Amino acid sequence: DIEPSLRPQRLDEYIGQKKIKDKLSIFIAAAMARHEPLDHVLLYGPPGLGKTTLAGIIANEMGVSLRITSGPALEKSGDLAAILTNLNEKDVLFIDEIHRLNRSVEEILYSAMEDFALDIIVGKGPSARSIRLSLPKFTLIGATTRVGLLSSPLRDRFGVIDRLDFYDIGELMDIIKRSAKILNVEIDEDGAMEIAKRSRGTPRVANRLLKRVRDYAQVKSMGKIDLKTAKEALVLLDVDETGLDDIDRRFLLCIIEKFGGGPVGLETIAASISEEADTIQDVYEPYLLQIGFIKRTPRGRVATKRAFQYFNIPVDKD
Ligand code: ADE
Repeated sequence: DIEPSLRPQRLDEYIGQKKIKDKLSIFIAAAMARHEPLDHVLLYGPPGLGKTTLAGIIANEMGVSLRITSGPALEKSGDLAAILTNLNEKDVLFIDEIHRLNRSVEEILYSAMEDFALDIIVGKGPSARSIRLSLPKFTLIGATTRVGLLSSPLRDRFGVIDRLDFYDIGELMDIIKRSAKILNVEIDEDGAMEIAKRSRGTPRVANRLLKRVRDYAQVKSMGKIDLKTAKEALVLLDVDETGLDDIDRRFLLCIIEKFGGGPVGLETIAASISEEADTIQDVYEPYLLQIGFIKRTPRGRVATKRAFQYFNIPVDKD
């Protein structure tokens, strides 16, 4: 990697999510003092808010190795067994998209989490028997955008369950200024604020926009990011004042123009704009809900007055 990492390595470098940080620092200190692994942690919330980053920080703070995989990557129970048997004592195993584990993999995870044991079947037919292998005591960190899709036996095996929230403008500015320092680019308050406002509450977006604005500044303004440079660059990137992109706008306009503002079902909107319903639900909707542009009702999605105003479309109802 030629780029320096923008991911913080320690808890005290991690900006925002104060409640989670406060809790984790206590749980980590307590586990360390007892020479035990940290209890299993489930992190949920929209993508890009720092779930993987937190897993890395937890491993660093515990002084152990981090092993990263994901629900879809673990196709067979043997895939998970191979990883579990190769962990060291107290290591952190991070499973992203843990709601997408298949049945057979999820089932061996239960005893692994609860008893640090692996139940495997040896032999076939009448002579088949189950043997129990013991595993190193490890910490599972599960991450998901859809906590509601986790089975309760799986959810119940996590000792710590926390939701990551969108970041406010001040926190995003701090992240952008920190990243700018690492990327060795000069940025002023107004420049940082302009990028922060358009980052949809999401550090991953903030860092991506910062890198593109840096490119623009390098070519157009001798490398310095101020308000003017930031604005010009963001216009070029087609990121509007609210941080909405083309898919957000097509999604909202579909509800407003094709379905009279809703309510309309997610699948219907998805088909109409040729996007995946899951992607809309996990990636696009959380921020639109947060800024009050849409509402979820039992009969489907509704565009709010605010969404109509954003497009300068008169609201002819309520
Ligand atoms: N980079 C991405 N997320 C971050 C956070 N929460 N704090 C600091 N830097 C970050």
